[in-house]
Amino acid sequence: MAQLWGGRFTKETDKLVYQFNASITFDKRFYRQDIEGSKAHADMLGKQGIITEEEASELAWALDGILADIESGALAVTEEYEDIHSFVEATLTKRIGDAGKKLHTGRSRNDQVALDMRLYTREQVQETDALLKKLLETILSGMEEHTQTVMPGFTHLQKAQPITLAHHLGAYFEMFKRDRQRLSDIYERMNYCPLGSGALAGTTFPLDRDYTAELLGFYGPTLNSMDGVSDRDYLIEFLSALATVMMHLSRFSEEIIIWNSNEYQFVEIDDAYSTGSSIMPQKKNPDIAELVRGKTGRVYGALLSLLTTMKGIPLAYNKDMQEDKELAFDAMDTARGCIALFEGMLATIKFNKDTMEKSASRGFTNATDAADYLVGRGVPFRDAHGIIGQVVLSCIEKGIAIDDLPLSELKRFSDAFEEDVYEAISMETCVNKRLTTGAPGKEAMERVIAEEKRYLESAGTIGINV
Ligand code: ARG
Repeated sequence: MAQLWGGRFTKETDKLVYQFNASITFDKRFYRQDIEGSKAHADMLGKQGIITEEEASELAWALDGILADIESGALAVTEEYEDIHSFVEATLTKRIGDAGKKLHTGRSRNDQVALDMRLYTREQVQETDALLKKLLETILSGMEEHTQTVMPGFTHLQKAQPITLAHHLGAYFEMFKRDRQRLSDIYERMNYCPLGSGALAGTTFPLDRDYTAELLGFYGPTLNSMDGVSDRDYLIEFLSALATVMMHLSRFSEEIIIWNSNEYQFVEIDDAYSTGSSIMPQKKNPDIAELVRGKTGRVYGALLSLLTTMKGIPLAYNKDMQEDKELAFDAMDTARGCIALFEGMLATIKFNKDTMEKSASRGFTNATDAADYLVGRGVPFRDAHGIIGQVVLSCIEKGIAIDDLPLSELKRFSDAFEEDVYEAISMETCVNKRLTTGAPGKEAMERVIAEEKRYLESAGTIGINV
């Protein structure tokens, strides 16, 4: 057991208490951020004359050495230390003696951990954004390819009106684009540095917080030291954004599972992204989509867990806050993994265009257009709706589509039908006449695709171009 705070204690910590309290098993994950923060702090202590310049450069050199050794595997982060902060400081002191002991001047583990977690989360925001950008590129190339692939659009999972696959994919493009915008908002709000907040009330040492904030790539220091050590809003916002990403991925997964079913056969998932059954030789299961759908619950759980942890904590730091890490890390890993795998599955999926088109033409998806046709010939919409309803009913009895009825039959329902009705209600017309912005018609879709393309080209990933 190695702790930083033995001085005022006369007894050893109980073993189980030590284990219950320790966080190294999970906070060792941000050793790099801990060292980066310590380097900035040491640099600033030297610049301010709080330690000598020699001590500051000795610290920087030793911290670099520790980082290199952890990364090469020469130095193992062992669990006899309470947390990663204690491990780094103890190693430092072992290696350079007294200068190592000076690193923590004007700093508390409270602002240290607040900084480490923020640095770690900031990177995660950037990495998630880059993955989402890749997913958007894959979706966009599907959109470009399928502006003429007609498929049924659904409401209530009942065939409603014909759309195109480009249009369907385009809905998800919008969702993931908003997800990126959310990440960008979060980045803007979170990018302030808590280092220098001390335990809760700052410090009497003349720290230069603007300097450390700048060294670490923050916009500036946080403006209240109590808030600095105990704010986890940025993490809650990020988990909420990840929960929304997962909700979108889960909806998309659900559709792919349905489309991949034996009944639909709209898509075929690539062998590389499918799994088989141990007993049923014919099976090819959409496990990746199912897992993405299933893992959504874990990410929601992390968000709810942290919100609940935070709700009763008085200012400032309390040990409850150590609970911000494990589930958040799990949620970050889960979401990143899901975005990447989903993108791979989508990039390799085969869309069965013929089956989609046939399905659209078999489900009365042109009934609205048939009613609109009558409206164009002077029939009031409500009457037209009723007439087409009767046409549909009789087609259901006969097992045919509206287009299969000869004109003489159609005229029995309304005199307004003429030969041009067939052209007006063809799948092709139904789709391509929908030309309002955001609709599936080819020209409308092409305008949107051009705009989405410009968006992808102009917006870099977070932290690089914002
Ligand atoms: N492991 C702790 C955490 O994650 C570090 C901060 C400890 N601070 C303290 N006052 N005990 O929150």
